[in-house]
Order: sequence, then structure tokens, then C-alpha cells
Amino acid sequence: AGPCDIYSSGGTPCVAAHSTTRALYSAYTGPLYQVKRGSDGATTTISPLSSGVANAAAQDSFCAGTTCLITIIYDQSGRGNHLTQAPPGGFNGPESNGYDNLASAIGAPVTLNGQKAYGVFISPGTGYRNNAASGTAKGDAAEGMYAVLDGTHYNGACCFDYGNAETSSRDTGNGHMEAIYYGDSTVWGTGSGNGPWIMADLENGLFSGSAVHNNAGDPSISYRFVTAAVKGQPNQWAIRGGNSASGSLSTFYSGARPSASGYNPMSKEGAIILGIGGDNSNGAQGTFYEGVMTSGYPSDATENSVQANIVAAKYAVTSLTSGPALTTGSSVSLRATTACCTTRYITHSGSTVNTQVVSSSSAIALKQQASWTVRAGLGNSGCFSFESKDTPGSYIRHNNFVLLLNANDGSKQFAEDATFCPQAGLNGQGNSLRAWGYPTRYFRHYDNVLYVASNGGVHTFDATGSFNDDVSFVISASFA
Ligand code: AHR
Ligand code: AHR
Repeated sequence: AGPCDIYSSGGTPCVAAHSTTRALYSAYTGPLYQVKRGSDGATTTISPLSSGVANAAAQDSFCAGTTCLITIIYDQSGRGNHLTQAPPGGFNGPESNGYDNLASAIGAPVTLNGQKAYGVFISPGTGYRNNAASGTAKGDAAEGMYAVLDGTHYNGACCFDYGNAETSSRDTGNGHMEAIYYGDSTVWGTGSGNGPWIMADLENGLFSGSAVHNNAGDPSISYRFVTAAVKGQPNQWAIRGGNSASGSLSTFYSGARPSASGYNPMSKEGAIILGIGGDNSNGAQGTFYEGVMTSGYPSDATENSVQANIVAAKYAVTSLTSGPALTTGSSVSLRATTACCTTRYITHSGSTVNTQVVSSSSAIALKQQASWTVRAGLGNSGCFSFESKDTPGSYIRHNNFVLLLNANDGSKQFAEDATFCPQAGLNGQGNSLRAWGYPTRYFRHYDNVLYVASNGGVHTFDATGSFNDDVSFVISASFA
């Protein structure tokens, strides 16, 4: 059985079922998600194999030698409640016409029972939505939901959510949402410790319990795979959570609606959001693997069976890198491969990261400017950081998508901005260096300056022309 078969048996059927990793009904054989590739704009759908796990190999072959975005996350419930690129609302997204970004198709690789699959890696600016969903709870009607998330990928911005929200993409008042929130925002509610926490986004507030601010019973929870559950019915709601890889769910809150006006009764509108707030606030980050919404208030026993099903799916980590291997502690230089520029290497001039022509006869200072020590990724040890040879303690990082050489300030933001995941070069040469936190973006030289660029984004440096060449670098032993 799949999670939605379990919810059906419990009398609270799924009305939306989303996953890029697996079928959520044992009999589901339709598409899980659609990807669109950068080379020619073609799309394809990815369906489950007979095991129920997504056919990631089909994605890998369709996307070979180019970039791919997740364009549609299909609803498996049969109601057509698919998730697509979120439109502008109270806030604009970063894409043209105020739309949010789409997620890279390769930002969140995992295995389920040993078979590779990809989750949905939500960078700030990314969001999915359905403002015309059918069958989801409205008003004070009962519903439940769960999601499997990456407990190491979060931030404090508003709001990494999955669940019920406004159909207008605008903040229409307290109680107009009921969604799972995951992150360490302290603007509204908090739990114990420093977070991240599972909370409920009920609009104009992230709630951990009945008190508006703190519920010490809602623990910080950061398993690599987190099961998060929220459910609500008239003057009763609950937060539950656990480790998606083992064990059972715990109840972090169950009781009355929050003691603030507008939340009892609720005024749910029934749209579905992923990765954003009700008003299209889009500063948050997180990773989504699977999740559902139900009709009716699921029993704890039903949810416990769903958790057992998730554990049996055996989510596990896998490599974030491919292509020629990098060795931690080694010193490297990175040569451009675009025809214009094959004698140019990634260098720095002060804090600017650029390319310059470097050779064995260059001055020692320039050779040092072109030399980098490979470090374990400051923000994720499965990837890498590049420390300047002549300015120890300073690393290549992106800021506003421009690469800079900056001193490590020890912050989580710096660590994440300085972490890059090498993959086989998109033009077939060397490596392309993907920004860990923005996996649609790669090291790119553009007018001899380095950026993290996406293939066809809104910035000048995102231009599609010569993209594959501009993002491919041959990495070899350093000049100095
Ligand atoms: O409730 C927290 C956030 O507040 C909602 O997600 C958003 O709509 C509003 O800005
Ligand atoms: O480069 C993109 C983002 O810009 C970085 O993550 C952040 O430091 C800055 O806001």
C-alpha cells in the first residue's frame, strides 16, 4: 500500500498527493512530475518504475548535457490538483511577470530502497501553487497533511510551506491558511531550542501550539529526513513529526485553536502551496520529497501507519557530485573552455572573481591569484568550497548571484553561499560547478567576470548563448 491507500482505509482520503520520488498509491502508474530542459525547451514526464520509485534514469537521459527544471508536480489523487510555477501575489517572484522560480530537477538527489530519485530543492525565490484546487478543505472543514522534507535545508525567511492557502495569492486575513511550515523563523511562533521547527502557517502567524508565541513542547527537529504533519478540524488541530528514516511520529501539539482572533473558526480557502507563504512570500528554502492533503481529520493511528510506510520506503542520501573528482586539500586552477577563452583561468582581483590569461610564465602573484585550495563544502560536506591560495580564510562565494572572494564570517549564509557541487561539465569538458543553495545556477564567466548563472534567467549573465561552454571548467593542479 501507499500513503494514500492508508488514508483511504482510515476514512480520510487524499485530495492531493504530490511526490517527485515515488507513487503514493500502490496502483498509481501515471506521471509524477514534468521536467523542461534548457537546450530546446522540450518537456517530458517522469513516471514510477514497477517498484513505485520515480524513473530518475529517464530524467538523467532526457537532461543529459543540459539543465532541467521541474515544471509540474502532478497530483496523484485523480483530482487534477497539480502544482505549477507560482504566480505573483502579495509579493512578486524573481522571474519575469513576477512569477516564482522553478526548481532545478537535480538539486535534491536521494535513494529510496537503493533506487535513485530526485526531490524538489526550493531555493529562495522558488515556489509552486494551485489556486484552483478541487476537494481541498474550505472554511472550517477538517483536513490533514504530511510532508517528507530535508531537515538540514531550511532558513528563517517566510515561508517554506506545504498545504492549504489563499486562492488569490494574497494575505486575506487570519485563518485563511492551514499549511505545514518548516524552518527557523522566529518572527511569529517558536518551539524549544533554536529550531528548525515544524509549525502551522495559519496566515499572519506560524503557530507551534495554542499560545501565539511559544510552545516548549514543539522541539527543534533536524533529522536528514523529517516527516512533518499538521491537521485541523473545528477548534482542534495538531502538529506531529518524526524521523522519516526510522521510528514513529510524536505529537508536538494537539488541542484548541490559537488564542488570537480569526483562527476559530478557520476560513480556509483551499489553494495549495509549496515552498512559499500564502501571499507568495518567497524568501524561504527547503526540500520537499512527498506530501499529501486529505479530506477529513486523519486519526493518529492512520498517520502512524503512513509514517511506517515512509520508513519502509527507505529514504537515504546519495552523491551530490559527478564528473572528474576533486580532492579535499588539493590546490587547483580552473580553466575556461569557451572558444574565446581557453587560456583564461578563474582568478581574483581583490574581492572580484574573474578570468585572466595565466600561463607557466606568468608572475607569481598572478599564479597565486589563479590558485585555490579545495575544501569540504562549508555548507554541505558532500560538495566543496574554494579557498584562495594567497588570501587564506577567504573563499569564493556568491552574493546577489555575483561571485566574490570574501573572508569566511562563520555564518550559515556564508557557508551555504560558498558551497558548490561539481558535476560533469555541461559541454562535456571538465566540471560544471553548481551552487549548492541555488542548483539552477553554475559558475559562469560572462564578460570575463564570474557569476552563478541559470540557463535563461532574468539577468544578463543568465543568457542562453554559449551557456554550456561558459559553465564548464577544466580543473587541474594549481599554478602556485
Ligand atoms: O503566516 C505567515 C505568513 O504571513 C504567510 O505565509 C503570508 O501569507 C503572510 O505574509
Ligand atoms: O547570491 C544569491 C544570494 O544573494 C545569496 O545567497 C545571499 O547572500 C544574497 O542575498
